[in-house]
Amino acid sequence: MHVTPSGQACGATITGVDLSRDLSPESVAAIRAAWLAHHVLAFPDQRMSDDDLERFTCAMGGFGHDPFIAPIPGRKHIIAVERKADETSPLFAENWHSDWSFQPHPPAGTCLYGLVIPTKGGDTLFANQHAALDAMPQSLRSRIEGKIAIHSAKRAYAPEGVYGEADRARRSMDIRPSRDAEATQTHPLIRKHPETGREGLFSCFGYIIGIEGMSDAEALPLLLQLYQWQGREDFQYRHTWRPNMLLMWDNRSVLHAATGGYDGQHRLLHRTTIAAWRG
Ligand code: SIN
Repeated sequence: MHVTPSGQACGATITGVDLSRDLSPESVAAIRAAWLAHHVLAFPDQRMSDDDLERFTCAMGGFGHDPFIAPIPGRKHIIAVERKADETSPLFAENWHSDWSFQPHPPAGTCLYGLVIPTKGGDTLFANQHAALDAMPQSLRSRIEGKIAIHSAKRAYAPEGVYGEADRARRSMDIRPSRDAEATQTHPLIRKHPETGREGLFSCFGYIIGIEGMSDAEALPLLLQLYQWQGREDFQYRHTWRPNMLLMWDNRSVLHAATGGYDGQHRLLHRTTIAAWRG
């Protein structure tokens, strides 16, 4: 197995491993070690079926729970991230986020496998949240140190949310808005990575809707200032897709965001969620 770092703020490409076969315990350990070191791993030229994608996800930590998006027919744990060539809905997941950070035990990671990839555009951006914290000016850090963020899916998946009832008719993805999205969950804004112990910022404005003990008038400008900082170019890795490429990222270390630039072209990827690490 060969690990080639991207040369950007995170990310590496892995070659010399065939993900359509069972992985040995040594290969699983080597992939997980590279993942913890680089936060985003790209595996080009992998011919993977849905069974292969599920087997890989199980080997990396088991399935997490995907709310609000129906799985593809015949599978419980795979969702389609899709945009048809003639689709007019806003892009899915275009803002920085950490997947499902509003859950009590948010997923450790996400796997995304490219099936239909546009000839241009549709890159996925990542922002390294350990680097963002390390480089943060003390004046900003002191305002968030010890603060507890309030997370919720309501802005996205409540019936009036961005992916709510009004959005459903024009979107090809099978998103199921629900009042369940209004539930809240708290997590520290700065926290240690559960496996590496490295401190980082966790999640951002969007799924974070407030800060405990602060009024919205105080918290929202701070969260927006933080959001600007978290996604700075110095902390980014830009991932360019090819068909048959698997990407695996660590939601505890990075934010990610979809990008457009492929109007008139179809884009289809299959996604699984890696469960929270329980030690
Ligand atoms: C996602 O956030 O799961 C989708 C990312 C992408 O479409 O590039």
